Amino acid sequence: MQIVRHLHDLRAARAALAEGGRASLALVPTMGALHEGHLSLVRAARAAGHVVAASIFVNPTQFGPNEDFTRYPRDPARDCALLADAGCALAWLPEVATMYPPGDATMIDVAGLSTVLEGAVRPGHYRGVATVVAKLLGQVGPNAAWFGEKDWQQVQVIRRVASDLFLPVEIVVGPTLREADGLAMSSRNRYLDAAERARAPLLHRVLLRTRDELRAGAPVGATLAASRQTLAAGGFVLDYLELVDETSLAPLAALDSGARLLAAARLGTTRLLDTIGV
Ligand code: PAF
Repeated sequence: MQIVRHLHDLRAARAALAEGGRASLALVPTMGALHEGHLSLVRAARAAGHVVAASIFVNPTQFGPNEDFTRYPRDPARDCALLADAGCALAWLPEVATMYPPGDATMIDVAGLSTVLEGAVRPGHYRGVATVVAKLLGQVGPNAAWFGEKDWQQVQVIRRVASDLFLPVEIVVGPTLREADGLAMSSRNRYLDAAERARAPLLHRVLLRTRDELRAGAPVGATLAASRQTLAAGGFVLDYLELVDETSLAPLAALDSGARLLAAARLGTTRLLDTIGV
């Protein structure tokens, strides 16, 4: 696997791939601290016939002032070894000054989608995500970009950007990978202490139960209210648990095709996200 840290090297590596007739390139954008979920995206993109590039960049513009930017886990040597093992051909590890050089003045705001749910709790978060992903797509020029289902709202924001800006890239979603007890894999799970880790799978269990009740015809409002109470009783501080349309993310008062449950909750100082289709 080739590891590149400068734009001119990225361009050379990209040109070499194109010259080799390996036209179909997939990008897996990451912030590092890789887990099986990321690696499954690399493997799935390869299985779909792409040459795979992954980016590792802890993007400062998507972190709020009191969030974990400085303590976000960074271990590029370990991440690169894992990527190489998963069959990644190219790792792109830019510096902050490469992504946001002096004079940089363009940020991408996706109206509506960016300000609800996760965007309401983390103002500016999706502005940072949309901007950095557009930059990465512009730099790497992939045919497809792969993202994890767990960050469902992020995927909808990125799809909107790609569509609105006519970016010639297919946005692909890979399924959430879970620990044996159902906890969705996330780089932030390592922040959980032992007691929090033991409680964490409740989030997924509650989503599954809520889905089953809704499918069985239970009323949406009362079912969500009961599920929120179960999470609070289990020690979670809930940011949201909502039934939404999977594309517009508009709240649904009744079950519809394309309905999805989205949840975010804190255990101690760690925020956990989860989502399932209904
Ligand atoms: O999901 C992530 O890890 C990040 O939000 C992303 C897409 C790499 C952009 O920084």
